[in-house]
Amino acid sequence: MDVQPTTFYEIMSPRCTALISTRDKNGVPDAAPYSFITPVSANPPMVLISSAPTRRTLANIRETGEFVINMVPESMLDKMMACAKPCPKDKNKIAAVGLTEKKSNQVKAPSIQECVAWIECRLEFEKEAGDHILVVARVLNAACKAEIIKGDQFEPACAKPVMHIRGKRFAVAERVVVSKD
Ligand SMILES: Cc1cc2nc3c(=O)[nH]c(=O)nc-3n(C[C@H](O)[C@H](O)[C@H](O)COP(=O)(O)O)c2cc1C
Repeated sequence: MDVQPTTFYEIMSPRCTALISTRDKNGVPDAAPYSFITPVSANPPMVLISSAPTRRTLANIRETGEFVINMVPESMLDKMMACAKPCPKDKNKIAAVGLTEKKSNQVKAPSIQECVAWIECRLEFEKEAGDHILVVARVLNAACKAEIIKGDQFEPACAKPVMHIRGKRFAVAERVVVSKD
């Protein structure tokens, strides 16, 4: 069956989903869920997020050049969704939804304590793409809760990362399969 080309991303799912945390030039923190996210380079480590032009997140990244990708466990889904609701520009959205800021290592943008992993990023460049702006950034620091690593491997059954399908629907990645070769 055919699907609407404008919602092709639903069948490219579940997609990596995270809270992007930023600060504006006055230090006011913000966070918003993003699911148009992908790694683009391993060495140097670089990542891409795709943003609608109207987002406060994008304005903050333009002002400060920094953001943090906070990986969201299933237990935080409702608070993540609260971060998608409109919020006055000068209000601390992270505190307003009941989440906790934690100091990042390499950037002034805050990390979010309740998340399970934190990727600290510095803007490299942006490029317009359709109705979104591609934001490509260098990864300056990456850290995660010890409990989501088993042996030396990421364990999705412990992290329970939420992955967006579309609208209010998500998958939780929990099962690992290993290829024969
Ligand atoms: C699950 C989910 C994923 C989203 N992904 C994106 C995205 O990749 N890019 C984007 O620009 N907006 C995305 N949004 C919308 C923003 O999160 C939403 O507009 C938010 O209010 C923006 O907040 P801000 O203005 O504080 O940046 C998504 C929303 C949800 C609920």
